[in-house]
Amino acid sequence: HARPPATFIALHGTHSSLLLECPPHEAPLWRYWGPRLPDSAAAPALRATRALPSFMLDFDQPLTVLPSFGVGWFGQSALLAHRNGQDFAQAITACEIEWLTPGQSLVLHLNDAVAQLRIDLRLSLDPASDVLTLQTGITNLGAGALDVQWLAAATLPLPGQATQVRSYAGQHNHEFMLQTDTLSRSLWRRENRRGRTSHDCFPGAVVTTPGSTEHSGLVFGAHLAWSGNHQQSIEWLHDGQYQWQLGEWLAPGEGLLQPGEHLLTPEVVASCSMQGLNGLAANFHRELRARLNWPGGTMRPRPVHLNTWEAFYFDLEPTDVMALASAAAEVGIERFVLDDGWFQGRHNDRAGLGDWWTDTGKFPDGLAPLASHVNALGMEFGLWVEPEMVNPDSDLFRAHPDWALQIAGRALITGRHQLVLNIAHPPAADYLFEKLSALLHSLPIRYLKWDHNRDLTTAALAGGVGTAGYRVQVLAVYALLARLREAHPGVEIESCSGGGGRIDFAMLRHTHRVWGSDCIDALSRVDIQRGFGQFFPPEILGSHIGTAPAHTTGRSQSLAFRAAVAMTGHLGVELDVRLLSATMREQLGAWIGRYKAWREQIHHGQVWRGEGADSLVWQAHGDPEANNILLFVFRTAPSSHRYTPPLQLPMLDARARYRVQQLVAMDGDGALQSPAPFFSELLASGVDMDGAWLAQTGLPMPRATAETCFIVRLQRIEP
Ligand code: DGJ
Repeated sequence: HARPPATFIALHGTHSSLLLECPPHEAPLWRYWGPRLPDSAAAPALRATRALPSFMLDFDQPLTVLPSFGVGWFGQSALLAHRNGQDFAQAITACEIEWLTPGQSLVLHLNDAVAQLRIDLRLSLDPASDVLTLQTGITNLGAGALDVQWLAAATLPLPGQATQVRSYAGQHNHEFMLQTDTLSRSLWRRENRRGRTSHDCFPGAVVTTPGSTEHSGLVFGAHLAWSGNHQQSIEWLHDGQYQWQLGEWLAPGEGLLQPGEHLLTPEVVASCSMQGLNGLAANFHRELRARLNWPGGTMRPRPVHLNTWEAFYFDLEPTDVMALASAAAEVGIERFVLDDGWFQGRHNDRAGLGDWWTDTGKFPDGLAPLASHVNALGMEFGLWVEPEMVNPDSDLFRAHPDWALQIAGRALITGRHQLVLNIAHPPAADYLFEKLSALLHSLPIRYLKWDHNRDLTTAALAGGVGTAGYRVQVLAVYALLARLREAHPGVEIESCSGGGGRIDFAMLRHTHRVWGSDCIDALSRVDIQRGFGQFFPPEILGSHIGTAPAHTTGRSQSLAFRAAVAMTGHLGVELDVRLLSATMREQLGAWIGRYKAWREQIHHGQVWRGEGADSLVWQAHGDPEANNILLFVFRTAPSSHRYTPPLQLPMLDARARYRVQQLVAMDGDGALQSPAPFFSELLASGVDMDGAWLAQTGLPMPRATAETCFIVRLQRIEP
């Protein structure tokens, strides 16, 4: 008999739209996600347009918001679940639509009356950022336990013209390495089972279409806001489009739901843009900025840090630390962060984690004199902690060996000589809350650097005899952070995980800065920060001026290059300022001064990135209309051209004229290899140029040595 007609759901952003078709008694069909459609856009019912191929089921099953196994869908399933071997096949039998904000945000309540489960899928499209947020919940309505092995947080459609996927690989000291794969009929999949966001597999990717560039063309991006295990896959479908699933990778048993129990996935944040990779980045940046939860409600100018780690490592000696603080204040540091090594028994990385009180052997009068000294110098005081960890050589472990994640009968596997605490165990969480709270109450700490230096293994609950605890561990750290922030709302927190091992939108609900990488080598950082910038805005990127040679790579770079690379994030200094010559200190102070003058511009508005010929990588910060732009051009390798081609700046308005001014002379360290009159004028008074010329032909580039930076301001002068 004839089915009643389908209804359609349309969500429209400023530049993007999505369309779902809702035939009765099944999950809504994905019809569209892409560039903005007119408000009135309508589509013919999908099945009416699909002539059936040979050797087909008589029921045509297109991609839905919840493709599920066993009742006519043969692709990747968004749900894999069973009840003791039963109910292994699922299909939605009813869909109820609940609008949260008409036209913008809704929940699809999907019921499977046969397998006895309910899926609640929330979808919102933010018109300001064009970011689509999706989150899925499942409830076990049956009488027996439901074992959920996989539940995608979202299933997204990608058009057939999608050709490449850009994901991020890497490792400790080299995060956000771009990995580009060509989409094909083979399944594309990336997974992480390390128990934290991970250095080597960022939970997200960007999909490009032919002809798309940094600046134009259709691209899609998605990110799973989650700090634990994850997986994503992109699969070619027989109608020529692709489906993209992202979700938490559940360890066996983690999705076991007793009757009535509920499992909620993390959120997926996704967006598409016709403005290429930079347009997509702008959408993600806008979304993250709206999510950040700043003390006092708004972001203060990002203070310049001095972080003690590479200056002292574990060798903290109060007079030295005080002297470093004094030297730091003189060059313009605004926040002094005491890194690892200050607490009980922490002389190296073999002991102490868990014993969160000051080592009075090192600091006989505690940390109060240091904190007062720092404050008296006009700086904020910050402190490093690694709460989720415990060294076997600690009072905490000796008192509570059962608090460490472990599996009874299996050897404890240490990483950096440490174990992971089961912080989902309430007494362990309470212990950490009390110890951290005591520090925050007794000392004027305005900032915590919250580290996490190993992957999770043998992560069983209940003192080693329970089920897998990866998921609850992540939820527990969010809860602990939320509890601390509620008790100490003025404190900012940095998410560090041996550098970039825990950078994601969920962690950034509770934190305000991330440590991009333990690698401070400025050349390595150009790449790392570029990958990072695809999803995250510059103001939350911890980025420091380190020593030359760099501790992690042995490469040496000029102070100018180290400073220029670092100041495109949230600037810090990570070296012993006392060891610098008077001239170097003066130069460091001058760079810090420039950062202070430019940070409002770097930390608000839009970022454009690109590559020029002859090993040039550039990054520009400015208002979206490109009226006032601060441009950093990094030369990453020696010139291989007799004449470096000019640098095209496609974001400029072709109808406008710009005053172009070089802001910093490229002197010292032999940076400028050969002068030319244009550059003398650029530095002395500036040069007026046409936007069209700069966009199409480009800005002439100086002849300079490798690992240098050319910094220019472009200001619209007319119209
Ligand atoms: C790893 C971090 O990334 C470093 O910055 C430093 O804080 C060390 N841990 C301290 O152990």
